[in-house]
Amino acid sequence: MEVDRHKMNTQKLIATAGALVANDKGLLAMDESTSTCNKRFAAAGIPQTVEARRAWRELIITTPGLSQSISGAILYDETIRQKKKDGTPFVKVLADAGIIAGIKVDIGAKALAAHPGEKITEGLDDLRERLAEYSQTGALFAKWRAVITVGDGLPSRGCIDANAQVLARYAALCQEAGLVPVVEPEVLMEGSHPLARCAELTEEVLRSVFTQLYAQRVTLEGMILKPNMVLPGLGCPTQDSVNVVADATVTCLRRAVPAAVPGIAFLSGGQTGELASARLNAMNARFRSGLPWAVAFSFARAIQQPAMEIWRGNQADAAAAQQAIRHRAMCNQAARRGEYTAAMENPPANREPQAKSAA
Ligand code: 13P
Repeated sequence: MEVDRHKMNTQKLIATAGALVANDKGLLAMDESTSTCNKRFAAAGIPQTVEARRAWRELIITTPGLSQSISGAILYDETIRQKKKDGTPFVKVLADAGIIAGIKVDIGAKALAAHPGEKITEGLDDLRERLAEYSQTGALFAKWRAVITVGDGLPSRGCIDANAQVLARYAALCQEAGLVPVVEPEVLMEGSHPLARCAELTEEVLRSVFTQLYAQRVTLEGMILKPNMVLPGLGCPTQDSVNVVADATVTCLRRAVPAAVPGIAFLSGGQTGELASARLNAMNARFRSGLPWAVAFSFARAIQQPAMEIWRGNQADAAAAQQAIRHRAMCNQAARRGEYTAAMENPPANREPQAKSAA
């Protein structure tokens, strides 16, 4: 009986993980904590209220045609309980559209004791109970983000291993509850380090994460990895080309991510929408046929940001904002196929007339 239940649960996890990366679709992260969402709203001149956050999330999930390129949406605790203006729960809106609901379950990165400048992500307390509740609400997957800061003498071994272990304990609890864990160890872009430093650290972090996932008996076939791309620091004088980034990222992942993992869904980390699409595209165009896992996306800013700047809280601009969300989602789906081109960003109707641009 127990064995059967375990087997059925594993089959469900594998099916969900597979569905999250099927048909060249990807994930839409819309799980900003209240403080992160408020920060982005403040920058765009949007009031930082529960209603504005609700309206923004309603706008996102009611984007016409969203499910053609988005398989799953990651919600936040506040959002998963919210409803459309007409009273329809968000979770039902997503289910009706054929989009799988996910939930961020960490409660944020806090200072790691005895490690100045480093963070540990918290949220394991009561996680089993919270996962049961989210599962009842309709979530089929979860997310937990760990952050690794790059700097002088950073990161420390202690920070890498502590975050890896917590990610693995979270992932095991998710699988016990029937939710696919999205495991997100993020090496941050802040810093002036070169790409090679990010490559070395990302590999070290991923190796630690997979050692811990093994130790905690996580079923690799029933999870999704959400890593950073291998990039030079934002302040590095050498900003490498799209192809160099794609090669370094794939090399790193090939070394550190077991073939049993069904999908890798990158975070965007502050890259522009166009760059994130171009880099994802280069990975798929150059390597897709030789990779054991799907190379997909789980972007927040790289999908939402241009739309938020159009919307700025004005309902009159909602349709244009939805168009921008749909556009970024479609570009990323094309990037999964290795078919994204810069021309997709500049459809003929929007182009400057020839004579004017030549002047
Ligand atoms: P970005 O794509 O904006 O990095 O967000 C992804 C995410 O979900 C961070 O946890």
